[in-house]
Amino acid sequence: MFTITKNNEIAHVTMNAAGPVNSWGLNAVIELRNMLDNVLADAEIKGVILSSAKKDWFVGADLKEIMATDDITGVMQMGRMLTDQFRRMETSGKMFVAAINGSALGGGYELALACHKRIALNNPQTRIGFPEVTIGLLPGAGGTQRFPRLVGIQASLPLMLEGKRLAVDKALGAKMIDAIAQTPEEMMDMATKAIREQFNAVQPWDVKGYKMPGGGIEHPDNVMFMAGVSGNVIKRTFGNYPAPIYIIRAVNEGLQLPFERALNKEQEYFETLLRSKESKNLIRTLFLHMGEAAKIPASLKEVETLPVQKIGILGAGMMGAGIAYVSILAGYDVVLKDRDKESAEKGKDYSRKLLDESISKGKSTREKADALLEKIKTTGNADDLSGCDLIIEAVFEDRALKAAVTKESEAVMNPKGVFASNTSTLPITGLAEASARPDNFIGLHFFSPVDKMQLVEIIRGKNTSDFAVKLCLEYVQKIKKTPIVVNDGRGFFTSRIFTTYLFEAFEMVAEGVSPALIENCGKMTGMATSPLAVADEVSLELIYKIMLQTEKDLGTAYNTPGAALIKKMVGELKRLGRKSGGGFYEYPEGGKKKLWKGLSELVKPAAEQPDAETVKQRLLYIQALEAAKCWEEGIVQKPADADLGSIFGWGFAPHTGGVLSYIDHVGLPAFLARAEEFATKYGERFTPCKKLREIKRVY
Ligand code: NAI
Repeated sequence: MFTITKNNEIAHVTMNAAGPVNSWGLNAVIELRNMLDNVLADAEIKGVILSSAKKDWFVGADLKEIMATDDITGVMQMGRMLTDQFRRMETSGKMFVAAINGSALGGGYELALACHKRIALNNPQTRIGFPEVTIGLLPGAGGTQRFPRLVGIQASLPLMLEGKRLAVDKALGAKMIDAIAQTPEEMMDMATKAIREQFNAVQPWDVKGYKMPGGGIEHPDNVMFMAGVSGNVIKRTFGNYPAPIYIIRAVNEGLQLPFERALNKEQEYFETLLRSKESKNLIRTLFLHMGEAAKIPASLKEVETLPVQKIGILGAGMMGAGIAYVSILAGYDVVLKDRDKESAEKGKDYSRKLLDESISKGKSTREKADALLEKIKTTGNADDLSGCDLIIEAVFEDRALKAAVTKESEAVMNPKGVFASNTSTLPITGLAEASARPDNFIGLHFFSPVDKMQLVEIIRGKNTSDFAVKLCLEYVQKIKKTPIVVNDGRGFFTSRIFTTYLFEAFEMVAEGVSPALIENCGKMTGMATSPLAVADEVSLELIYKIMLQTEKDLGTAYNTPGAALIKKMVGELKRLGRKSGGGFYEYPEGGKKKLWKGLSELVKPAAEQPDAETVKQRLLYIQALEAAKCWEEGIVQKPADADLGSIFGWGFAPHTGGVLSYIDHVGLPAFLARAEEFATKYGERFTPCKKLREIKRVY
């Protein structure tokens, strides 16, 4: 993986792993040691330039290798060995220069930190940073010790805590690199010059009398800073995430120790995190499952699809406008159809607005933006859909209207193409009845706002073909979103589970549980939004309408106290949600929203309030139990889909790994026992399904 080319006193080391990226696994660490054995033994070599033959420079640890083993002790041995090799490099007396020609992330950037100089190529794709915290870890190859000693505590800690990946110019501003070269040749010249000018390189922290930039850990400003940062982390994470806490501890304690012992301290905390449930959950869902979801599944490999170029979008409202924007960015031609051309133009305005913002941020140019806008043809005439290979329908949530636009489109579109509905609630198999080609009819459920939300739920109706599924997977891949494929059913997967979160909160309000307690507990669980606040955002009116439609379709009434509360709030009191003046909250003009006072008149607060743990568990358990039912019913086929869908669809607490992974996070036996207890106390809905009784664990 490390090829040495000697040029008199300089060794050029090219990093080129056998796999697609340079990353740290056991073999890579051994090869680093072997490479160092060679160059350090050669007295003629005065300096070493490290560059990469890959698109990226070095991307960190090989997470697949780490996840594949239960042998944490083995992983830690590898980590220690890597730390030792880095120390060997920086204290060897030979000068190491990182010639960073692509992204340097995590353990990759730590390699650069163990070099004496860092020169980056001006490459717009390059990102430099410490993403470890996002997968529940800390920089464990000297990063928490070298980086603060290089740039100071206040400059370094936020970058490690937030896991930001900086572009080259920003990285220079943050002193993560020393210089930027405009061409690969200039980068190599600068590296060579650095070595020639400074034989016998030493790191600043190994120089006698070294003083930390911005003062040491005991400096009063830094003491204040550390206290503030710690407080913020607790406030932001509610203690759900151990990684930021251990990053702070590693910096705080490590900076009070001699360098070698500081490295040991970092290793100790790295191991603690590596053994934590949270890091396993985060790595599995956000890295492994995400990676898998980005690929076309093997079962569809043989299926041939169409090369889609022209996409029709019906309805230029909030969703249609967003879908048009992400589609042109991916290079598609779009026909945006609404009831008339003027309404369609309003939808196109959304793309105009977002592209103008990109220009003002310096991310695009007028020419590029205009060329993209050219790709959207607005119309009120269905004939313009002629030749579309994929049509995505986002008209009002109305069965008859959806049936009419389906027929109208199928008459003119590519007869081999696919018709997809973005319905949020109507079962796909039912909608497909309006289609002349139900095998090419599918659900493509986006989330709002489309340009920001990562997930797309692909819904297979009873007759949907593999061809239609694969064509949609290819489309989702191209717009760079994460797909999950689910089977048809009321609310599909995401809406069905998300609704249980809201309704559990409604039930608690109806029982007299303090709404403030419910909201605080909602936040403490790690969910992206608290339940009553998000119910107001979605709009209570919409929830009410879906309830009535479901009652009509199923012929059974919602007869719980929580449902009665919503019926009263919407039907009688006209509290429709945020956009319509207020729901569970009041929204005083110019002021901060606050819980609606009238609620305590509507429902008498219970004399005895539950403890916070119970409220938190009710909110999470109900979702996990319903998700397990979806798994049992085949709505989702594998836990990975449920977990990805939950985190990216409705903001389920990421540290748990997702809505089904949460069951393992608690531990299945304990989860079942508590669910039974809740079933006795609060109702049948907490009874675990058969599937949960049959398995040993989810993963
Ligand atoms: P919207 O009300 O903003 O837009 C609907 C658009 O359809 C309007 O511009 C309307 O003029 C247009 N339209 C009506 N009749 C038409 C026809 N015959 N031909 C072409 N266009 C026609 O609605 P929104 O929020 O964009 O929702 C659209 C669909 O997406 C609905 O099925 C909704 O359930 C679904 N959805 C909505 C989400 C949301 O967060 N708003 C999330 C996911 C799905």
